[in-house]
Amino acid sequence: MYYIGVDLGTSSVKLLLLSENGIEKTASRSYPVEFPREGWSQQNPADWMNGVCDAMDELLADVDKAQVQAISFGGQMHGLVLLDAQNEIIRPAILWNDTRTAPQTDYLNNVVGKDFLLKNCGNIAFAGFTAPKVLWVKENEPENFARIHKMLLPKDYVAFCLCGNYATDVSDASGTLYFDVEHRCWSKPMLAVLGVTEQQLPTVYESHEVVGTLTPAMAERFGLSQAVKIVAGAGDNAAAAIGNHIVNDGDCNLSVGTSGTVFVSSDKYAADTKNAIHMFCHANGKYHSMACMLSAASCNGWWAEKILGTDDFKGEESAMDITAENPVLFLPYLMGERSPLNDPDVRGMFYGMSLATTRAQMGQAVLEGVAFAFRHNIEIIRSSGITVNKAKICGGGAKSPLWLKMFANILGLPISVPQKEEGAALGAALLAAKGCDVAVYEAICQKTDGIKTVVEPDPALVEKYNKSYEKWMKLYPAIQGIR
Ligand code: XUL
Repeated sequence: MYYIGVDLGTSSVKLLLLSENGIEKTASRSYPVEFPREGWSQQNPADWMNGVCDAMDELLADVDKAQVQAISFGGQMHGLVLLDAQNEIIRPAILWNDTRTAPQTDYLNNVVGKDFLLKNCGNIAFAGFTAPKVLWVKENEPENFARIHKMLLPKDYVAFCLCGNYATDVSDASGTLYFDVEHRCWSKPMLAVLGVTEQQLPTVYESHEVVGTLTPAMAERFGLSQAVKIVAGAGDNAAAAIGNHIVNDGDCNLSVGTSGTVFVSSDKYAADTKNAIHMFCHANGKYHSMACMLSAASCNGWWAEKILGTDDFKGEESAMDITAENPVLFLPYLMGERSPLNDPDVRGMFYGMSLATTRAQMGQAVLEGVAFAFRHNIEIIRSSGITVNKAKICGGGAKSPLWLKMFANILGLPISVPQKEEGAALGAALLAAKGCDVAVYEAICQKTDGIKTVVEPDPALVEKYNKSYEKWMKLYPAIQGIR
């Protein structure tokens, strides 16, 4: 039997074919992100569907299609997809890393109030969450707001195109800020604040639940049976956690993709009263804490491709030396920052250059700066009483052996690299399997839980990086007031 996972990312969609034997095949397609104004980040949902269709054709070529049982999803979180009564897309989707909503975020935190938000949704407002985007559309595009028939999250739009039902799952819904995370349902008080009705929202499911089956048109398009199940799926971080088997209380996953996240699985609901860390539903029926940094591997991409004009990442890294102290420091806030700063307007910065500074030191500072930002979040997570003594890692950044060493030494943690790098796509396919048969899901989980390597911290490097981290921590306070 086959199960398909669709990881709807920001720069590309990745599809993964899973069988009882493990991962069989993957296929992916990329699509553009529009940055039409400073701080804006949008995508055309039609591009997602075109990418899914093309990648599906590649994935299913030479495969016995009759064996495909279910499709599920991991998706970029928080994006606002608006449909009118004819199910037409009203405007481009506003993405998780869009920071246009600073005024609406301030309104929610300071007028509606953090206590109200924490009580009803388990989180305060961050610019990337969906609720500030809804208010932005209401204030800036009232004609679009008036046409809203349904408000969906990105992966839920793809699921809707496949099965014709409006559905979401608890983990992705948690990032809207109109969802009651503790009780796993839409928050009526918050919907009243936004002026939105429950009829305008999709039905909420647990991540492994079946939300429909392929429409006749989609079944014919892919050559699949109409009985293929569509399973709710999860936000990409919860899906990656399922893929990396981060399901027990205290298990920690670091994701170094376009965004960076620290994800800690939790058996209990516990909203962060210090307001830095998100508390969301997990895809396993429980909860998780999460810190999200808006720019992680994207900083490395920006530095190498846009500034240096090269895609030879290995070549750049070969000139770096992590045993020597790097006088250059970098703040990775290229899109503003979410966790733990909640500062949409801050921007990135290099500090410490001299005439002796080399290209390699600057590149190294970029990688180290991202890892320092992870440490900043881990320290805040620890200060709320959560123990983190080891972590798994996934995402594009996990492919660089040098960056892995930096993470291990800057965080002072052993970092395990799973054998299967597919993270969210694997988690999505596992959820598809769970939606069909829990015993099959458990059996495949055991097969896909291998660790490729563990990178241990080296005490001398940890000591060296502790000193650099102390300096790095002084930079953000020092630039307060410069906007
Ligand atoms: C999580 C977040 C990002 C996106 C990236 O809160 O905003 O990790 O899900 O796809």
